[in-house]
Amino acid sequence: MRVLGISGDPTGKSKVDTLVKTVLENSKYTDTEFISLRELNIGPCKGCFSCIKTNHCTVQDDWNSVESKVKEAEILILGVPTYYGAAFGINALTHSFLERWFSLRHKGIKLNLKKVILIIVSGGEHENTAITNLKTFFEIYHGVTDIEVIVSRGSIPCLVCGEGESCPISFAIEMYGEGLKITPDIMPSLEKQNDVIEKSKLILSK
Ligand SMILES: Cc1cc2nc3c(=O)[nH]c(=O)nc-3n(C[C@H](O)[C@H](O)[C@H](O)COP(=O)(O)O)c2cc1C
Repeated sequence: MRVLGISGDPTGKSKVDTLVKTVLENSKYTDTEFISLRELNIGPCKGCFSCIKTNHCTVQDDWNSVESKVKEAEILILGVPTYYGAAFGINALTHSFLERWFSLRHKGIKLNLKKVILIIVSGGEHENTAITNLKTFFEIYHGVTDIEVIVSRGSIPCLVCGEGESCPISFAIEMYGEGLKITPDIMPSLEKQNDVIEKSKLILSK
């Protein structure tokens, strides 16, 4: 089985990268690869339809270097942070990448994908929009029905921006209540999410 792990984390510091790598490192399959979208320049679909006849996107950017990897992958691990999660679900970096899959669904679906593992890291319990939207993307548009989901709690921006205890639109105050003191013990670190780490280790291990 060819296993492709894709991280849509633009920071390189979030739990998204860590969890995608944890699944890959503990997988029973040896043909694995990790790709970070933040290291690539992949813009959105331009709607030019030049891919219709050839199933090949002619827009010149780093999609060209991952297109064949996406086509060959049999298992995809997709790690995604939720940005404006209640509105959009997934972040724009991941969205641009997924829009380019349009070139792989003309005259049939040009994928070998059998299974998708979604890793959603959400600060404020906005994972459900991301899960619903991504399931629709893979099931309805790309014909993959074997989808598993891992959810991890990330840090909402108001916990780390420095103003979260007093800002009039602080989402941290909304979540944790008035008089909030932002201390290390309320930060949702991965060390406190042992169930998430264990699930990530086990999911492809047997
Ligand atoms: C621009 C931006 C918007 C965000 N919007 C939301 C949001 O609407 N809902 C939410 O749950 N988390 C939101 N987050 C938090 C991210 O989900 C979180 O930063 C990400 O999952 C990484 O968390 P970590 O650094 O703790 O791993 C946002 C983060 C950024 C940078």
